[in-house]
Amino acid sequence: MSDTRPKPTPEVFWEEFYGRGDRVWSGRPNPLLVREAAGLAPGTALDLGCGEGADAIWLAERGWQVTAVDVSATALERAAGHAAQAGVADRITWQRHDLGVSFPARPEGGYGLVSLQFLHSPLGLPVGRILRSATAAVAPGGDLLFVGHSESPSWKRDAHAEVHLPTADELLAAMGLPSPDWRVEVREPVRTEATGPDGEAGHRVDHVLRVRRLR
Ligand SMILES: C[S@@+](CC[C@H](N)C(=O)[O-])C[C@H]1O[C@@H](n2cnc3c(N)ncnc32)[C@H](O)[C@@H]1O
Repeated sequence: MSDTRPKPTPEVFWEEFYGRGDRVWSGRPNPLLVREAAGLAPGTALDLGCGEGADAIWLAERGWQVTAVDVSATALERAAGHAAQAGVADRITWQRHDLGVSFPARPEGGYGLVSLQFLHSPLGLPVGRILRSATAAVAPGGDLLFVGHSESPSWKRDAHAEVHLPTADELLAAMGLPSPDWRVEVREPVRTEATGPDGEAGHRVDHVLRVRRLR
């Protein structure tokens, strides 16, 4: 039988999610962000769906000036606390947006890096619209990095059954690519061996797309 209850708003859903514990994520930056951003010259960065802030803090520790966005005020408050502990509070601005509704203002010149790391929601997200705003926010010479699940994990094949996980072609089309103004630097499915919540050995496969704005 289908669930006929009204869906919560993203704010209500993610507030409840982060309210379940003092820390939801590991506190470590996403390995594919580290792999892709370690070689970039620091500038300004935008982290969309920043959660508890580990990526923003890692970027700030490497000299980036970061704007980090999430729909959950609890996540942002926690992230700001972690940034203060790490001594990088002055390098990160936290902004609350429901990215399905509003998007941070583009600074003059744009961002050197716009990063989306597992910006997923069981409520669904207007991924095309968000990606168009994200590409528009990238400075000439800057990069957009998208990392996200391409399929449900092997231990729970219906984990993302309620939403469509876009293919790499769909993601690139949403970014307006191919285009002479952009170059695809990385387009790769990455398989990671991982353990499910009940200790099941398995794997997951994620998209890594890094595209550079040439002009
Ligand atoms: C799977 S978590 C990933 C968090 C973080 N990027 C990471 O990799 O640890 C998805 C994040 O996106 C945020 N999010 C979901 N829907 C959103 C929306 N409509 N607007 C802004 N943030 C949203 C959630 O609050 C959550 O922090």
